[in-house]
Amino acid sequence: MAISDEDIQKVREASDLVTIMGERSPVKQRGRDFWLCCPFHNEKTPSCKIDPALQLWHCFGCGEGGDVFAYIMKSQDVTFPEAVRYLAERAHVDIADDAARAGHGMGQGQKARLRAVCAETAAFYHNQLMRGNSPQADAARTYLSGRGLGGDIPNKWQLGFAPGRGELVRHLAAMGFKPEEMIQANVALVGQGDRKLRDRFYNRVMFPIHDEQGECVAFGGRVIGTGEPKYLNSQETPLFHKGRMLYALDKAKATMASTGVAVVSEGYTDVIAMHEAGVTNAVATLGTALTRQHIRVLSRHARNRIVYLFDGDAAGQRAADRALQFIDATMTPEAGASRIDLFAVTLPDNLDPAEFLAAHGADELKALIDSAQPLLKYGIDRRLAKWDLTRAEGRAGALSDALSVLAPIKDSLLAKDYARQIASVTRAREDDVMAQLAALKPPRTFDEDAPGSAQPAAQQPQAPRRRLPQAEVNRRKFERQLLALCAARPDLALAHADTLASTQWHDSLCATVSASMLQTLSDNPGVSPAQIVGAATLADARAGNLLSRGVPDASDPAQLVVFLSEELVIGDMEDTIAAYRAQMPAAQNDPETYKLLFESVAALQQQVVNLRQTHAQGVTSAS
Ligand code: UTP
Ligand code: MN
Repeated sequence: MAISDEDIQKVREASDLVTIMGERSPVKQRGRDFWLCCPFHNEKTPSCKIDPALQLWHCFGCGEGGDVFAYIMKSQDVTFPEAVRYLAERAHVDIADDAARAGHGMGQGQKARLRAVCAETAAFYHNQLMRGNSPQADAARTYLSGRGLGGDIPNKWQLGFAPGRGELVRHLAAMGFKPEEMIQANVALVGQGDRKLRDRFYNRVMFPIHDEQGECVAFGGRVIGTGEPKYLNSQETPLFHKGRMLYALDKAKATMASTGVAVVSEGYTDVIAMHEAGVTNAVATLGTALTRQHIRVLSRHARNRIVYLFDGDAAGQRAADRALQFIDATMTPEAGASRIDLFAVTLPDNLDPAEFLAAHGADELKALIDSAQPLLKYGIDRRLAKWDLTRAEGRAGALSDALSVLAPIKDSLLAKDYARQIASVTRAREDDVMAQLAALKPPRTFDEDAPGSAQPAAQQPQAPRRRLPQAEVNRRKFERQLLALCAARPDLALAHADTLASTQWHDSLCATVSASMLQTLSDNPGVSPAQIVGAATLADARAGNLLSRGVPDASDPAQLVVFLSEELVIGDMEDTIAAYRAQMPAAQNDPETYKLLFESVAALQQQVVNLRQTHAQGVTSAS
């Protein structure tokens, strides 16, 4: 049975390429990208790049590349549907299930039924916690109060206890809910062997998850004491999308609006502890890392800043490194109105927010949140902290390590500001540091083959294996690079939509990708890079490989897009001139047509000359 596009997108959004590829071999970050030794050929130095924003990978050694599905297909030698199913299972995205599939086209009436199932389930669990008289219910109450989650808290947060053993299923059936509805709301499932309907949650403390409007749409269930998995969460359902949903947003949104600040952590208990301590603008992701969608949701509620609180343990620090890479493209001044002020702070001493509150109290946590740094500064400080600044070698290392954080935005005023600060900390001469900043990774406009080879194509030795003439090779490269940049920067794609629409693509795959990109953008101008790539890959499976190959590492993507787009416009004109010229001999006996062709060619040639003049200036000032 074919898998729907919607399911494919859901699986794609739930699958993080860096995490998945990182399971096979260690992944190192460089700039905004991640690098690893290619899983598909033997090598000692990493030449396989992962672009976390586009969710694409490409090996500069063997030329393999594509999206997350391409990686699974290749690494596990499976077909596309098998790769989708594998990743769906991994991410707990339900796609094979017919009942869940039926949920996608679900009307409001059916969704309302699922909401009713969730509401009734939450009420049932809560009642079990408050009034259940089994030893297990006792244990749940003892556990919660032992964690400081007693008193009024279960009431306020509608905490519950799931007894399991079919008690919920029997209760919901008595209330008139159908088995399919319980399954779709993911509070019940069908047993493997006997095909009987069972409760999904057994003997767990339950945290109902409410949507922005305060309606229960899902659950997180914690084991009482120790056990695996520690938290069992609802899978994706028609009501529940982990990549967008934030725990306690319904309770936090008022404070976010009044203060302009959002605080994000990772745990349910952390959020409850923070709200109880008066930090009422706190939310948590739901067992996933922060996504661009989360950031977008939060920036709607909190105008000033989003503060990401990282746990002090190793997992928290990995999350911090990951987040730094993930969002820095959005911090460039070019992001304009869509710019997001993401701040970050790490909790000390391996603590998480709940533990910090218990040890230090609310005032210290608030002070810590207020001390959060803009993500760029946070990243620079993390780099500086790795070095021994009392030694000259340490300072030199710290300087280049910290400075490299600025590479993607090196031409901005912001970068110069930070570079000055780095100079002062590492006791380097400001002029030297500015020169070093300016010399950071020059834009590799012409580079397609290997990282580090920044030679213009014209100076490269003619590769004999290439059958296409060099001009055509360049043209196709420009096409790919323009599309790759536009996929990475939807704002630039919008600005150059005219070029995307009018270019006479030489590469038919580029034509498909461009059409898909325009469609995606017209459906939703706020679409994310990964979504653009996702849609393009649905239009043609080779799109992932194409977009992963051609991302030029430009210091000023906006200017590079102008250059590439002009290059394509000029190329199209030259094509037209050539086509008119080819018609001229046949028009010798038709003076009117001949004159028309002749004049058109002359006019076009003049235009090309003019364009090349301003075009060349653009390139000179870019380099
Ligand atoms: P933590 O392991 O930090 O849990 O995971 P915690 O919030 O400190 O929980 P307590 O204090 O031990 O009860 C952070 C978050 O990651 C998700 C949950 O959302 C959790 O709140 N998680 C963790 C899971 O989804 N599954 C797990 O097995 C563990
Ligand atoms: Mn924790």
